[in-house]
Amino acid sequence: PSTPTLFTSLKIRSKCLRNRIVVSPMCQYSAAASGSEVGKLTDWHVATLGHYALKGAALVFTEATGVTPNGRITPHCPGLWKDEQVISFRRVSNFIKSQGALSGIQLAHAGRKSSTLPPWIGAQVNRPSLRATEQAGGWPEDVVGPMGGPEYSWDGKGLSEDGGFNCPRQLSVSEIQDIVKAFGESARRAVEAGFDVIEIHGAHGYLIHQFLSPITNRRCDQYGGSFENRTRLLIEIIQTVRNNMLSGMPLFLRLSSTEWMEETELGRKYGTWDVESTMQLVRRLPSLDVDLVDVSSGGNHFLQRIEMTSSKDYQTKIASQIRKMLRRDGLNLLIGAVGLITEAEQARDVVEERPDSSIERESNDGELLVEAKGVREAMADIILVGRQFLREPEWVLKVAWKLGVDVGWPNQFWKVRFR
Ligand code: FNR
Repeated sequence: PSTPTLFTSLKIRSKCLRNRIVVSPMCQYSAAASGSEVGKLTDWHVATLGHYALKGAALVFTEATGVTPNGRITPHCPGLWKDEQVISFRRVSNFIKSQGALSGIQLAHAGRKSSTLPPWIGAQVNRPSLRATEQAGGWPEDVVGPMGGPEYSWDGKGLSEDGGFNCPRQLSVSEIQDIVKAFGESARRAVEAGFDVIEIHGAHGYLIHQFLSPITNRRCDQYGGSFENRTRLLIEIIQTVRNNMLSGMPLFLRLSSTEWMEETELGRKYGTWDVESTMQLVRRLPSLDVDLVDVSSGGNHFLQRIEMTSSKDYQTKIASQIRKMLRRDGLNLLIGAVGLITEAEQARDVVEERPDSSIERESNDGELLVEAKGVREAMADIILVGRQFLREPEWVLKVAWKLGVDVGWPNQFWKVRFR
């Protein structure tokens, strides 16, 4: 039998993924949090990201990395807002690459969702809000977003006596333009740090998503209102990031394909960022030299109603819908699927294109044609996997073994195989 697509290589610009399995960006809350080391990656990142690379992943992403200090989610998140931070990132990307994987970095600004505490610290001090005060290293006075005021905090209420959520301050146009520049500068540093791939974090209710959504962006200037205006920040960020990259480097964009607010009062009142909006946006991406859209969802509002009826494919099926539309219209953009991918066969099927006899055509007189002409299109070109790598860092090796594919193990593991 031929090799499943999952274990075939994929060339994007000048970079080659050795298979289709990518480690999804995941916050570790383990970067240096203070002093001159602030924002730097640590030994933790070398060890954890390193072992995904040596155990077969094609591309390993570092977590959301702040382009400004107040763009971090927590004081323990990494940042790439100054040149001194580059060396710690280079150490991680060098090790990943030495193991035959590509190294990727996700550039982000958390906007109104910044200055929170790592979840386990929040749980310890029993803070319902996870809000990081100044004593905890946070910047509650410098939390920013498209809109300001308590009604634009995460729960729509803001601070109260028993905690509450950070109250954002509205960004001015010149501050927005400074953030665009900060993305460009961080992209330049990511190139210096040796990363192969850059992903822009446009999902999960962080700053870019806050601007895309008519629920969280009700500005009346050139950055709010129409679709054109709400997407302006993202488009400007894409342009400046691309300008600071080498032409052989792939650029990915993570989007929340829907914020799951259609069925809510707020959504009906203001409109939402939904799959239709995503479709409209992604059609513009090939001309902006984006190579791949990483299709995630949700995270912009606490009232979101995630439709999990079809469980494991709740998100991959949206990826598939977008990919079909792109192919139908002859647009050249790769698609990444993410979310609840945990099993070998499931992973294989997401990226496999194959003849499908269940897709049949009826002839004119209603007689079923037995030799089906149907092709089941792949749902995506790559998969991104998060939590399964935390559970099982050797997941790629295990999937290969289960699918009967012979992949290389590190020399140091000689003579050891799954059986
Ligand atoms: C995440 N996720 C995430 N996403 C992202 O774009 N940037 C990030 O920094 C993080 N951080 C993060 C931390 C942790 C601990 C988890 C579990 C998740 C989301 C992640 O990349 C992925 O999209 C989801 O977890 C869904 O995929 P899985 O976990 O079902 O494979």
